[in-house]
Amino acid sequence: MTQQRKILVTSALPYANGNIHLGHMVEHIQTDIWVRFQKARGHECYYVCADDTHGTPVMLAAQKQGVTPEEMITRVRQDHLADFTGFGIGYDNYYSTHSPENEALSRSIYLALKANGKIESRTIEQLFDPEKNLFLPDRFVKGECPKCHAQDQYGDNCEACGTTYSPTELINPYSAISGATPVLKESEHFFFKLGECADYLKQWTAGNTQLADGRQQPHLQAEALNKMNEWLQDDNLSDWDISRDAPYFGFEIPDAPGKYFYVWLDAPIGYMASFKNLCERSGVDFDQWFRADTDTEMYHFIGKDILYFHALFWPATLQYANLRAPTGVFAHGFLTVDGQKMSKSRGTFITARSYLEQRLNPEWLRYYFAAKLNSKIEDLDLNLNDFIARVNSDLVGKYVNIAARAAGFISKRFQGKLTDVSTSKLLPQLQAQSETIAACFEAREYARALREIMALADVVNEYVDANKPWELARQEGQEVRLQQVCSELINAFRILTVYLSPVLPQLATEAAAFLNVAPLSWIDSTSLLPAGHSINVYQHLMQRVEQKQIDDLVAANRQNIQPAPTVATAAYEAVAATASFDDFMKIDMRVAKVLACEKVEGSSKLLKFQVDLGFEQRTIFSGIAASYPEPEKLVGRMVIVVANFAPRKMAKFGMSEGMITSAAGNGKLFLLDVDSGAEPGMKVG
Ligand code: 2FM
Ligand code: ZN
Repeated sequence: MTQQRKILVTSALPYANGNIHLGHMVEHIQTDIWVRFQKARGHECYYVCADDTHGTPVMLAAQKQGVTPEEMITRVRQDHLADFTGFGIGYDNYYSTHSPENEALSRSIYLALKANGKIESRTIEQLFDPEKNLFLPDRFVKGECPKCHAQDQYGDNCEACGTTYSPTELINPYSAISGATPVLKESEHFFFKLGECADYLKQWTAGNTQLADGRQQPHLQAEALNKMNEWLQDDNLSDWDISRDAPYFGFEIPDAPGKYFYVWLDAPIGYMASFKNLCERSGVDFDQWFRADTDTEMYHFIGKDILYFHALFWPATLQYANLRAPTGVFAHGFLTVDGQKMSKSRGTFITARSYLEQRLNPEWLRYYFAAKLNSKIEDLDLNLNDFIARVNSDLVGKYVNIAARAAGFISKRFQGKLTDVSTSKLLPQLQAQSETIAACFEAREYARALREIMALADVVNEYVDANKPWELARQEGQEVRLQQVCSELINAFRILTVYLSPVLPQLATEAAAFLNVAPLSWIDSTSLLPAGHSINVYQHLMQRVEQKQIDDLVAANRQNIQPAPTVATAAYEAVAATASFDDFMKIDMRVAKVLACEKVEGSSKLLKFQVDLGFEQRTIFSGIAASYPEPEKLVGRMVIVVANFAPRKMAKFGMSEGMITSAAGNGKLFLLDVDSGAEPGMKVG
């Protein structure tokens, strides 16, 4: 082996408020293959990840579920880790950004940036939800696009016409959380003076690091560098707002009560924190890896959508905190399924969990993704028919079958023993490709690596067809030849298994057990099994994919959603915790007739209803004025009332004797109705 390298590798940290889907799997499989390859080459390599736990969306998701953020992120982390582990992703540590290590590192990095003059505070104006009492992140403000006038667009860009704008430019903005009209409010924020880092970033983005083995590693892929140059060339790099106001789920900023680090500040520091936690448990010297003059390597595998954070903010953060910078940022494209964006209604938004629950073999997907991955920032299409074809014809048909075709004869005719293969002409052809294939894996050209490997499998299968072991087995006096051919095939299978082991770790483990050898590493591709070596009885190593399994997978993921009326995706609330029948029966809902309805002076939100419940009349205040600007039009219609709520005093307006039910969404409320024939007082249930 050439010089041993020290390599730290990360995948992007998944948010703690969503499921793992096959889009995540592209990245984590791509990373895992690279890490397994580096380990197989004998390098000291660590792979760390974590859940990305902070920020407003996580805080609100926990609120909706009626749990604390800590409870939610603990449960979600377990689910995420189980999903990834199910696909054979072998992290050395899968941690959480909500950790003591991350808090300490985030604070010390912030203080170092401050000491280096890179932090400044400014008062800014931001949209504020007066009902929820929180500043609204751009994605939580919606309204009418100022350009094309599409309704219900997010605060940062219009999905209908693609314009980007600031949330204050939206027409009739509303809070996506409460529906309230946001107000502008001032607040002090902390900024990382990124503008001052432009010279360093121009140099870093275009630069290389010389590796311990002498190679030059470019920090960015060519396409990524072009993109960064677009941002850097006009010297208009904006300073970066790294603080958020309470309430916020995150880490409080030192000496700034009520101010929290923006999630994107502490998320990449979460890579370090996860590694630190690993170092503390395993005796690795953490500081050696993060010193500015370290000779260790650090690589981040990420999606193309978060390049800005990893190629600009992150290197600058590290540099001006006197720490090492990344050795390489490796961005990949998005996953499409059958040529289209993943879709819940088509069943192609496939969760990792559903794939595992449907009992599809995770190594099929690892193989398929590897067969399509390269080092460029290209989208990857999971074509479901092609998936079946490639797995069945290449993986099972060409590779696994080599073992199946030879093992039976060795076991039955030769007591499991191999003969000498040192004069084989076949095996040196396979061994000769060891460094070529290694170079493909090193360069993240997995598709090319698999093409090379499958070309070798073709050579082996041609050898099988030319020598026909099944015919040799029937002919007298061909024993020696039969053992020779089958021993070559078993050795060929072993070499191909070494080459495929980063992609198919589970199969490689089972193959090693069948071959009766220690776990395989890359160097094993250069040796042969000795004469007299015994193999174990062959048991089938991999099934073929059936069309029905794919159909079932798609069906399991298909959700019966009506397309949203606008291009924006509706923000569906999570279904509440399970209620028993008894719980339900505690709520006494009745049909009621609106006798009178009017605006309430002094309140922009309330309407005052007089309703007939059959057995009595009641006054009820309801906060739906914004959705029903002409209340008199409601007179005479039926509504559904919760009749057994304790009467509630509505500020200065009077008592409200129940609640009028309505559906909420897209910033509006919609009264419920009943079919004709229903009468006031009838029970709902
Ligand atoms: O885009 C995302 O899914 C983020 N949670 C990725 C964070 S990666 C890192 F910087 F922490
Ligand atoms: Zn628009």
